[in-house]
Amino acid sequence: MNKIIKGCCLVIAVASQPAMAAVETIYGASCEGCHMRGVGDAIGAPGVGNKAAWKPRIAKGIEALYSTAINGSTTNPIMMPRGGSALSDETLKEIVDYMVEQSQ
Ligand code: HEC
Repeated sequence: MNKIIKGCCLVIAVASQPAMAAVETIYGASCEGCHMRGVGDAIGAPGVGNKAAWKPRIAKGIEALYSTAINGSTTNPIMMPRGGSALSDETLKEIVDYMVEQSQ
């Protein structure tokens, strides 16, 4: 009996952990189609992991990147508001943080 209860708590502890993995999954579903390395670089989207492509963007400041993610690009209509998704501002910001982390 004791063993079952302990096992159960462990499962709950593990299940509540992977917030980062969730962001990665949402990125994969909503953004990666254009932002995957190679694809992205070909259509003018900064490919995640392409440090050279991200450097000048990161230099604009994180707020500018959040703004593009939420409102869309002012210069390239391919980057639509929210990347064409219905994600919340908060989720978009988490994804942008993830993209930047992977690209510097
Ligand atoms: C249909 C293709 C497409 C999708 C889908 C897409 N993007 Fe983009 N994204 C682009 C392009 C193209 C650019 C380059 C825009 C520019 O240079 O102005 C870009 C640029 C960006 C930038 C850099 C902004 C800046 O100010 O330099 C961020 C951040 C970004 N996208 C986030 C996202 C996020 C988050 C998602 C998913 C929710 C997403 N994108 C989905 C095409 C896409």
